[in-house]
Amino acid sequence: MSKTKKAEPLKNDIRVEEWAEPNETAQTIELVQAPEVKSSGLDKMRVRGGNALNGEIRISGAKNAALKHMCAAILSDQPLQLQNMPVGLGDVRTLAQVLSHLGVRIAMRSDGVAVLHAREITNSVAPYDLVRKMRASVLVLGPLLARHGHAEVSLPGGCALGTRPVDLHINGLRAMGAEIEIENGYIKAEASNGLHSAEIMFPKVSVGATENLMMAATLAKGTTVLSNAAREPEIVDQGEALIKMGARIDGLGTPEIKIEGVASLHGATHSVVPDRIETGTYMCAVGLTGGEVRLKNTRTDFLSALIGLLHEAGMDIKQDGADVVVKRNGAKIRGVDLMTEPYPGFPTDLQAQFMTMLTLCDGAGMINETIFENRFMHVPELNRMGADIRVQGNAAIIRGVDKLEGAEVMATDLRASVALILAGLVAEGETTVNRIYHLDRGYENIVEKLTSVGADIERI
Ligand code: UD1
Repeated sequence: MSKTKKAEPLKNDIRVEEWAEPNETAQTIELVQAPEVKSSGLDKMRVRGGNALNGEIRISGAKNAALKHMCAAILSDQPLQLQNMPVGLGDVRTLAQVLSHLGVRIAMRSDGVAVLHAREITNSVAPYDLVRKMRASVLVLGPLLARHGHAEVSLPGGCALGTRPVDLHINGLRAMGAEIEIENGYIKAEASNGLHSAEIMFPKVSVGATENLMMAATLAKGTTVLSNAAREPEIVDQGEALIKMGARIDGLGTPEIKIEGVASLHGATHSVVPDRIETGTYMCAVGLTGGEVRLKNTRTDFLSALIGLLHEAGMDIKQDGADVVVKRNGAKIRGVDLMTEPYPGFPTDLQAQFMTMLTLCDGAGMINETIFENRFMHVPELNRMGADIRVQGNAAIIRGVDKLEGAEVMATDLRASVALILAGLVAEGETTVNRIYHLDRGYENIVEKLTSVGADIERI
């Protein structure tokens, strides 16, 4: 793809350029500024409970795939065009800033087209100020090393979910020939002669480490084997995009991924897989409120663990062409038990939403969180709204109550925030959720989407 250029800085520091195929106006991307992320640290959300949800919601492209695709753009000196991008998400904007800092030129359009062009890497340092806002920034490490031979990335540090180390990323890159030191809070990595292949057996399934090493291996000499690799649909999606860029990858979606390194990758166009966590979130919302909602442009096959449980709990979920129709049968859902696990198990990113749904169940349910040590921070807030949840270690028992009551609550992380919004949808009276900037990181147009199916919700 060649380009005509007209760069102008945006308020949020993301550089915008115009891209056009010569003589092919049909493919010209007419750029407009992607929607701004509206929230400030002071924004709140007010929800008035009691309405059943009915209508249609369009599911966005997956945040957890989009971010990884953006990092993969570093691997090639040609443009990567991404479609179905959730361009309104805070995390996408933050990562765009990180990449822009490295010299990647980025254009985003409000209808979900983004073009990233890393013609030249002008800087290989991802500073603390940018990385601290979003852990996924650490995924520039593998691509930077592979393409540029040098990278300095701030250690992301702990987060609300626990310590969250990155040792698996670092050990894997070391096995591929990188020299890595941790100095002054930075991962300083060097591979001046390029990376070479390695056989890497992960002691623990890690989504991030699998992605970082898969990207790095696309440009390494020889064939790298990743064993005990993560199998998440977002990793498969990332691998498919890399293959379109010229990478040689086998075994996507299985615990053993083989990557045969190539000398260079080229440009490509790829459409981001639908967001299964957003899909599951709205399914749990319907489980709570009742009603019938058509989730447009999404799938059931990548949510088997969730859907099995929702059926058991008494919900009706059917794929209908490119949409999924979700309905609650009866006045209440039944209590069920679950354990979070790496894919294809129940996703940790849906645990808080499912727990919220169980607060009003018939009977009781038990949830075991096995991925993160500290992911029950929504529990005290739900209990303040009248839920009956008891936590012991990494297990929670949720006894169904007859009603929740509106309250002022505090969001602590992305999925906990949305769980409190769901609680607000059924609570009596008014619920105010504070610190909703977390929500804007990962849920595109949530107010508009919920309002369109009958919820009473507004940003204040
Ligand atoms: C995890 C989730 C992912 C979710 C994301 C955000 C899993 C397997 N992964 O991905 O679905 O979208 O959080 O909530 O469910 N670990 C190490 N060393 C490392 C890397 C990870 O010990 O170098 C540990 C983590 O602390 C954690 C586990 O491995 O206990 C899984 O981590 P990982 O999959 O890497 O986390 P994310 O990629 O953030």
